[in-house]
Amino acid sequence: MQRSYSVPYIIGFSCVVCVVCSLLVSSAAVSLKPRQEQNAQLDRQVNVLMAAGLVESGQRYGREQITQIFMERIDPVVIDLATGEETDIDPLTFDPDAEMKDPTRSNPAPSNPAQVKRIPNHALVFKVNKDGDLNQVVLPILGKGLWSTMYGYIAVDADGRTVRGLTFYQHGETPGLGGEVDNPRWKDLWPGRRIYDPAGNVRIEVVKGRAGPPEEAPYEVDGLSGATITSRGVSHTLEFWFGEHGFGPYLVKLRESRRAAS
Ligand SMILES: Cc1cc2nc3c(=O)[nH]c(=O)nc-3n(C[C@H](O)[C@H](O)[C@H](O)COP(=O)(O)O)c2cc1C
Repeated sequence: MQRSYSVPYIIGFSCVVCVVCSLLVSSAAVSLKPRQEQNAQLDRQVNVLMAAGLVESGQRYGREQITQIFMERIDPVVIDLATGEETDIDPLTFDPDAEMKDPTRSNPAPSNPAQVKRIPNHALVFKVNKDGDLNQVVLPILGKGLWSTMYGYIAVDADGRTVRGLTFYQHGETPGLGGEVDNPRWKDLWPGRRIYDPAGNVRIEVVKGRAGPPEEAPYEVDGLSGATITSRGVSHTLEFWFGEHGFGPYLVKLRESRRAAS
């Protein structure tokens, strides 16, 4: 014989199931949060090291290995984007995402083809040292591709003019087309390209088709085939972040301090 349940019983039972499940999910989310944050930090460190050419993409590295290379070679600093000056804000507690979203610490960006919406007052940059001297800086970048906002890092030589590496760690472009922005073979085309022309204008761009090696095409990188819109998005992203509203002032300071030191 089939047992029948009253409506209040069914509602009560469903509520108990919902409460128990939500408690389980929320306690799992809370208990895993520190782990997720650690993994996010590790992922950021790997990508900074990859842009700087200190680890290879595709290779597997242990957590301790990454942390050790990062601690030995990388010096994170928070800079004032408008002046390009380093600040004494603690890079370990600085949260770039929170700053970007905070209307009191960021401003609407002027209309730009990279579709960057807000410009934060400060940015977290990573100085890469070699034998005690500044060797390169790794800068965070973001800009619109075809389908998505692409997030990455670009490493610039201590000369403030030459690309040392590029990596995109988060995007929603189509695998095999725009998604090739994270193909190691394409990323290998970047080191040695020049960012600015002698007059100081941003010249670097992704072209349609082949560009050739840096000696022949100092300002150009091969386009991604079948992905002209994503390629253009990369050019726009670099144009924005190397310009006056992005890291332009910081790189000017870098070039000046190099000239003063030599
Ligand atoms: C399913 C699908 C996915 C696509 N994904 C991308 C993409 O991620 N990036 C991109 O630039 N173009 C993508 N395209 C192609 C664009 O629509 C456009 O045709 C292309 O950017 C033109 O590039 P081409 O001049 O190199 O052919 C996609 C097209 C289709 C049908």
